Amino acid sequence: MAIVDAAASLFASAFGDGPDGVWSAPGRVNLIGEHTDYNGGLALPIALPQRTYAAVRLRDHGRLRAVSTSARGGIVEVALDDIEPGRPQGWAAYLAGVCWVLRQEGYAVPGLDIAIASDVPVGAGLSSSAALECALVAALSDLLGLDVLADDAGRARAAGWCQRAENEIAGAPTGGMDQAASMRATADHAILLDCRSGAVEQVPVDLSSHGLTLLVVDTRAEHALVDGQYAARRAACEDAASLLGVETLREVDPTDLDAALDRLPDDVSRARVRHVVTEIERVRTCVEALRRGDFDEVGRLFVASHTSLRDDYEVSCRELDLVVDTALHFGALGARMTGGGFGGSAIALVPADQAESIGGRIEAAFGAEGLTAPQPFAVTAGPPAGRDR
Ligand code: GLA
Repeated sequence: MAIVDAAASLFASAFGDGPDGVWSAPGRVNLIGEHTDYNGGLALPIALPQRTYAAVRLRDHGRLRAVSTSARGGIVEVALDDIEPGRPQGWAAYLAGVCWVLRQEGYAVPGLDIAIASDVPVGAGLSSSAALECALVAALSDLLGLDVLADDAGRARAAGWCQRAENEIAGAPTGGMDQAASMRATADHAILLDCRSGAVEQVPVDLSSHGLTLLVVDTRAEHALVDGQYAARRAACEDAASLLGVETLREVDPTDLDAALDRLPDDVSRARVRHVVTEIERVRTCVEALRRGDFDEVGRLFVASHTSLRDDYEVSCRELDLVVDTALHFGALGARMTGGGFGGSAIALVPADQAESIGGRIEAAFGAEGLTAPQPFAVTAGPPAGRDR
């Protein structure tokens, strides 16, 4: 069954009638520009073809009732008035957060029933949470007449609401890259996202006419400390910015990086800042390389990004390094971890006719080390959040 139908039919069986419509939003993968968003920097994500579908009906019962094909435990139910930081817990927090933010913004939300079906892998660092938030905000845009889907300015506002939902109700101190990708990216393009100004530029990503493809590898690695580590990295950047007397690390002049590093108190904070400042420059260089079709250079930048994330930012892990090393060994032009790190997914830029064999080599390498089997799959840049029916 198509996933859009799965959402609609789950709605009917859970709530006894039909939804007002079905909306969906994609997961994302970031090409380059990692841990830069909360530093006012640049990132270059694409929307994935994998999407989360939300069948939604407005009700007047003052509650959020939500059910998902992939969650056990049936219908999650919470009174809209009871939504607060940390309540509800689990996957429904992302939906509840969107309701909460819209009410804070002064919009009347009378009550909602929602059924979710998705093919965005959960826990793979591919922003299944942003896809949930963005699918619901797309639905509410239409159902409440918010009209934020019509242009990029509206979509940027909606992405901001979704980020607040994640930060304030779900309690994850993430930057805004994931929601921006899900709301604002377009098919066959990456967005160059400037997290200081909020501006985006659409950058064509045409791999297939160069005989290339992007392989995503979900490592299936679970790491317990993710949230604390992410928050610690973010805090280290904020502390360094304040020591340097700048609002964000975006303000550090990359041509005078050594002088800035000299003013920091220890090697760890120097390494964190070096990653952020050099990564922002790699995004710029990568966009130029993409625009002139220089994919060898794109590949080199992927590798430099991974090295910096592994050694200076210290957010990689054994499984991510193994994907990158194996992909490079067997012919990838470049490879890197993507997303927050400590598990999740890596990407590799590979010749299209070798995607399957390189994926197989990565699976074999994991098998040889006794690791859980990873999931490699090739992707193209898909469309953003919108209405399906
Ligand atoms: C996670 C966060 C994003 C971003 C990345 C790292 O995916 O949700 O906001 O910070 O990590 O680039």
